[in-house]
Amino acid sequence: MSVKTKTPEEIETMKIAGRKAAEVLEMIEQYVVPGVTTGELDRICHNYITQELHCIPAPLNYKGFPKSICTSVNQVVCHGIPSEKKILKKGDIINIDVTVIYEGYHGDTSKMYFVDQVAPHAHRLVKITQECLYKAIDIVRPGTTLGDIGSIIQEHAEKNHYSVVREYCGHGIGKVFHEDPQILHYGTKGKGMALEEGMTFTIEPMINAGKHHTKLKGDQWTVETKDGRLSAQWEHTLAVTPTGVDVLTARKEESF
Ligand code: MF3
Ligand code: CO
Ligand code: CO
Repeated sequence: MSVKTKTPEEIETMKIAGRKAAEVLEMIEQYVVPGVTTGELDRICHNYITQELHCIPAPLNYKGFPKSICTSVNQVVCHGIPSEKKILKKGDIINIDVTVIYEGYHGDTSKMYFVDQVAPHAHRLVKITQECLYKAIDIVRPGTTLGDIGSIIQEHAEKNHYSVVREYCGHGIGKVFHEDPQILHYGTKGKGMALEEGMTFTIEPMINAGKHHTKLKGDQWTVETKDGRLSAQWEHTLAVTPTGVDVLTARKEESF
């Protein structure tokens, strides 16, 4: 495994990329309402990213992905493809995952939205999944191991009778969208590589209400829970600082 640490100048550029990705998630919130299609959400984000932010939407044509964002509704774990046929309805939960490229550097972030009012069990899954991300971010500093990150997420999810998706993980990020190291969202405290100043990576736990198993749909992108129960995900791009962490994709509503 070759992990490339970034210079302070590179991290400053990634911070701009991250802020722009976060802005997309802030901008799209008002449009996530009953009756909108995920295809329409994709179009709004695509136009904003290209025309307002002057960035490139990284997913578009990435390994053949056909759209500019991922939209993952209810039992969809990740990589949902926006579609004119997918109409959001009251009670749905949706993850919107945005990755922009700014001056060659990637900013990758996602959040969950409620479509109008949702059931208490859906609300709880979304909240606990966000807590999993925040607990992991909290321990990021030089010397923390990848196992520490995985285990803190797994413990919080399983304590709440949820499960952690195994097949998809966080990743190093920079000029390359997905680079080493892989950031597993489960694991054993103290195991794995230790973090160092200048590393940039995502943490993006996918937490299922039921069992952890997933299945890939016929479109070769959409990942769903095997048992059809709900899944939630939150993602940030992070940089390891001398004393802790810089959340490069922080939104205005968040304080780190
Ligand atoms: N943004 C996703 C991630 O967090 C990757 C999406 S790749 C795509 O890593 F091709 F599905 F868009
Ligand atoms: Co990512
Ligand atoms: Co992402």
